[in-house]
This record gives sequence, structure tokens and C-alpha cells, in this order.
Amino acid sequence: MFLMKSKNKILLDLKQKIEDDILLEIKEMSKKNELRDAIEYSLLNGGKRFRPIIVLLIAQCIGKNFDATKAAISCEFFHTASLIADDLPCMDDEKLRRCKPTLHLRFSEAIAVLASYSLISAGYELIYKNSQSLLSKLPQEKCDRICTIAIEAVSKYAGVNGATGGQYLDLYSRDDSIEAITEIIHKKTISLFEIAFILGWLFGGGELEKLDLVKKASFHFGMAFQVADDLKDFDEDLKNNKTINIAIALGKETAKNKFLSEIKNLKDTLNQLDLNKDPFKLIVDKLEKLV
Ligand code: IPE
Ligand code: MG
Repeated sequence: MFLMKSKNKILLDLKQKIEDDILLEIKEMSKKNELRDAIEYSLLNGGKRFRPIIVLLIAQCIGKNFDATKAAISCEFFHTASLIADDLPCMDDEKLRRCKPTLHLRFSEAIAVLASYSLISAGYELIYKNSQSLLSKLPQEKCDRICTIAIEAVSKYAGVNGATGGQYLDLYSRDDSIEAITEIIHKKTISLFEIAFILGWLFGGGELEKLDLVKKASFHFGMAFQVADDLKDFDEDLKNNKTINIAIALGKETAKNKFLSEIKNLKDTLNQLDLNKDPFKLIVDKLEKLV
């Protein structure tokens, strides 16, 4: 009975594989120089890797044995690009990210901006490469279709209607109503989970007709994730008068109930996609433990 890998070990191994693959992609990118070192520093400083894990687990759950590694890494690239930009002095002016000096402090502002741009470009390239690697499994036409839908989704969810627009509202919106905060969460946080869910589904070989349900699942996942994050930051944000925090807007108890109802809606949607099972359940279990 001890031969079975523990659930935690499966996730840890996956995280290690993602980190090894990230390093390989960085090496592929260019010859070593300060910009590449900065990219490596920003990517390999201890993230939870939720988004690439989501991509790989969805692909595994679909069970067609398609390799979605490059698409998974692209999600971490987009996520990291957004964190680098958010931390800049002209944005949130953060000194620390994951307990280490932020990229612009460790290197320079110019290098940080360039690293962020480079990661967005490299993310698109990885999506293209992943679609080409499916040629061993699918006809050209189908690979091209997957690539087009993936690029369309990433363009939408990373741009003014997604992460970039969300950061803009977070910086400049004076409105801290529940509706306004929900819009910021949707654009800023859920967008990147939408990218992860869509890429996992597309590159795992899921049916294209079900993409709307996949987006619905990502909505509940991302919302639960942000409610958990805002509950974690509750005291700190209250102290700093930061009102764009859904847990502060709703109050702790209501926020906890919202978290539970998002988890329930997530599981209902995953049932319809046949994803409410291992190995995808492992990451849902992790999400549930955030609160
Ligand atoms: C941070 O995301 C930004 C939010 C959406 C709250 P994560 O909490 O996934 O950051 P890392 O990658 O694990 O550091
Ligand atoms: Mg926060």
C-alpha cells in the first residue's frame, strides 16, 4: 500500500518537472547575459506554479497522452511577466516578491521591463511550438485550429480586457464597491487562470465545443483563489488602508462563505467536464486548503 505515490508527492514531482522545464526553456531562449539572468531570477524564485500545474493536470485528466508542457510553461511566463510589471516603482512599488528583492531592485528597472516584455513574447512562441509538437498526434489543420484559439484566448486575457486592464483598474479605480472589486478580480486574476484552463483543455485534446464550460470552471477557480488570497492579506491590507480586497469589502465570514460557494460551483462544473477526479482533484484539494 505504500507503493502508491502520496498525493503531495505527485504535486511536488510535477512542480519540480515544471521548474526543470522552465530552466530548459530559459537556456533555449538566448545565450547567457544579464537579461537572461534576470528572466531566470524572476522565474525560479519559488512560485507555487498553480497555473502550469493546472495545464498539465487537465491534459493528464483528458487522458489522450498529449504533451502540454510548453503551453504550461507559457502560463508561468505570462504570470511572471505580469508580476514583474506590477512590482515596478511606477506601479505597486514592491520591494519584495516571494520574500526576495523584486526584479527591478535586484537588477534594474530597464532590465525588469525588458524581462517582462521578453516573457510575453516567449510565451506566445511556446504556444506555437506546442501546437507544432501535436503534429505527431493530430492533422495539421487541427493543430492550426488549436494554435489559433489559444492565441486568441491569450491575447484577450492578457490585454486591456484582462490582466493589463485589471492592473490599470487596481491602480486608478477609486471605486471599492463589490462590483468594482469583482471586475478587477475577473480581469487581473481570473484571466490568467482562464488562460491556464483553456490551454490545458486545448493542448490536452479536449473537445472544442466545451470551451465555455472550461471558462466557467476557471472563473470559479480564480475567484476562489483570489478570495483566499485576500483573506490571507486581510489584516495587512486593513492596516495599509488597501480597500481593493474582496474579503475586506464582504467581511471575513461572508468572504469565507463565498469561497465555499465558488468551490462548490467549481466542482459542479468540473463534473460536467469529467475533470472532478484525480489527478486534477489534487490541485482543487490544494485550493481548498488555502482557506
Ligand atoms: C499572485 O499569484 C497574484 C495573485 C493573483 C494573487 P500566486 O499566489 O500564484 O503567486 P506565486 O506564483 O505562487 O508567487
Ligand atoms: Mg494580494
